[in-house]
Order: sequence, then structure tokens, then C-alpha cells
Amino acid sequence: MRFETVQDVVDRLATAGYLADEAIATVVFLADRLEKPVLIEGPAGTGKTELAKAVATILGDPLIRLQCYEGVDETKALYEWNYKKQLLRIQAGQDEGWDAISGDIFSDEFLLERPVLKAIRSEESVVLLVDEIDKMDFEGEALLLEVLSDFQVSIPELGTLKARQIPFVVLTSNNSRELSEALKRRCLYLHLDYPDVDREKAIVLERVPEINETLADQVVRLVRSIRTLELKKSPSVAETIDWARTLLHLGITELDEAAARGTMGALLKYQTDVEKVVAHLKIPPRPENN
Ligand SMILES: Nc1ncnc2c1ncn2[C@@H]1O[C@H](COP(=O)(O)OP(=O)(O)OP(=O)(O)O)[C@@H](O)[C@H]1O
Ligand SMILES: [Mg+2]
Repeated sequence: MRFETVQDVVDRLATAGYLADEAIATVVFLADRLEKPVLIEGPAGTGKTELAKAVATILGDPLIRLQCYEGVDETKALYEWNYKKQLLRIQAGQDEGWDAISGDIFSDEFLLERPVLKAIRSEESVVLLVDEIDKMDFEGEALLLEVLSDFQVSIPELGTLKARQIPFVVLTSNNSRELSEALKRRCLYLHLDYPDVDREKAIVLERVPEINETLADQVVRLVRSIRTLELKKSPSVAETIDWARTLLHLGITELDEAAARGTMGALLKYQTDVEKVVAHLKIPPRPENN
């Protein structure tokens, strides 16, 4: 129980520069209370990875990260035997019987911990981030099921290693493939979409504090209208921030069509998207009250 209330989560995340809405904070709150992993799905650049980092910051815990890709297996995710050391031990003990040696080389001393095992075996509490789990193949995903439900790892030669503390686990996915039912069942689910205007503006002001409020407002409104177009890649929060920074560096304090056109590269990553947006470009008027 490391959070008092949902509002406490919102407030503390804000101190780490992460602006959460109630839905996000509720899931974080419940994950801590129920000791369950959180699965965060949503488009690229909406703050999934950043949320795990912010939770680690506010809890004062180290972040242990497993970056997933096709081909992540046991030896990358869980553990590996230190073959070199085992060989040396075998060579050094040539006169001993095999029983003595085999009992020895499959002990803790010869085990190399990979992120997931490291997270559950840590003495102090940690945040475990399994990032972009959808990039991992189905077999890799299956490796995690035991950890996610029982916080333990079974090693045939060594037995079952139980967690010394329950880590705060965050899994992120871009939805490039469906995850298994078994995995979903073990997690609390959070869909992270683009924030509403006010929160996105607040995020821009938080991340680019030097920007003036009028420009932040214009940037966010324009990005939102761009998101309604059918694009190959809609601009994410990360790109809104990049764009705001770009404008700032160019000394632009108010957005007009020429400024927007000249800086589209910070926002859009496909030429066809740039062309489409430029054709529709309409700068929202300055807000009345600032
Ligand atoms: N709620 C938020 N508060 C503060 N900053 C945010 C928030 N959401 C997003 N950001 C900003 O957006 C950037 C991108 O977020 P992040 O890297 O977490 O995206 P992601 O969802 O993990 O994307 P991907 O799927 O591409 O990995 C962060 O560096 C952060 O600056
Ligand atoms: Mg990410």
C-alpha cells in the first residue's frame, strides 16, 4: 500500500513530470493495492513507457527493463547458466565425481540473472518494465506467465525461485498483434489514448516550460485537428512536444501557416502525410483570453 488515494497517485506522478488523468491514476493505484501487473496498450508516443519510469521515480525504486523483440527467449528474459564458469569449475575438479560437480555447477553461483529474474530476486522493491511485449513472439510471452501470476520462476536444475518482494510490473504494447488471453487475464488493463486538449497542453507546458501559453495552445489544437485526418502515422504526444521545441528553437512565438509548413518534419514522418496536412492547414485563431 504505497498510495493513499487515487488523487495521491495523480499528485505524486505530477511531481515526476507525468500528468495523469483519473483513469491512469486509478489503474496505478489498484496495481499497487492488488499487487497485479498493468498491461498498457495504445498508439505510439502516448506515454506508456514514460508512465513506468514515472512510477519508479515516485516510488524511489530502480527500474528494471526488458525491451522485447522477436527472438527474446528464456536466456534473454529470465536467466542463463554461466557456461564459461561452469566449464572452468569442471576442469578444476577433474578428480571429483560427476555428482559433486553437477550439484555445484547448477547452483546460484553459476546463474546469470536476466531482467525478469533480477526483478523478483531483488531484495529491495523494484519496478519491472516489460516494454513492447507485442514485438515478442508467442513463446516469449508464454515465458512470462508464471512470473505474472505467481511472481516466481521455475528453473529445472534449481527449483522454484519465489519473489523476495512483489515488483510493480508494467507491460506495454502497441497492439501490433493480439496478446494471449492467458497474459491479459493476469493483468489490469489500461488503454492509453491521446490526451484531451487541456491535458495535452499541460503536458507541453510541463515538458517545454519555456514556451508561451498561446503557442502551446495553438500547437495542441492544430495537432488535434491533424489527428482527425486519415494519415499513415498520426502525430503522438511525443511529436507534439518535439514540434513545440522546434518552434521554440526557431524563435517562433505565434503559429502561422508559413511557420507550420516549414516545421512539419517535427510532426509528420511521411511525405504523403505532409502533403495531406499542408493541403488542409488552417491555423486555429488565438484564444480570446490570453
Ligand atoms: N501524461 C504525460 N505526462 C507527461 N509527459 C508525457 C505524458 N504522456 C506522454 N508524455 C511525453 O511523451 C513522450 C513519449 O512517451 P513514451 O515514450 O512513454 O511513449 P510510448 O507510449 O511508450 O510510445 P511507444 O509505443 O512508441 O514506445 C514522453 O517522453 C513524455 O515526454
Ligand atoms: Mg514506449
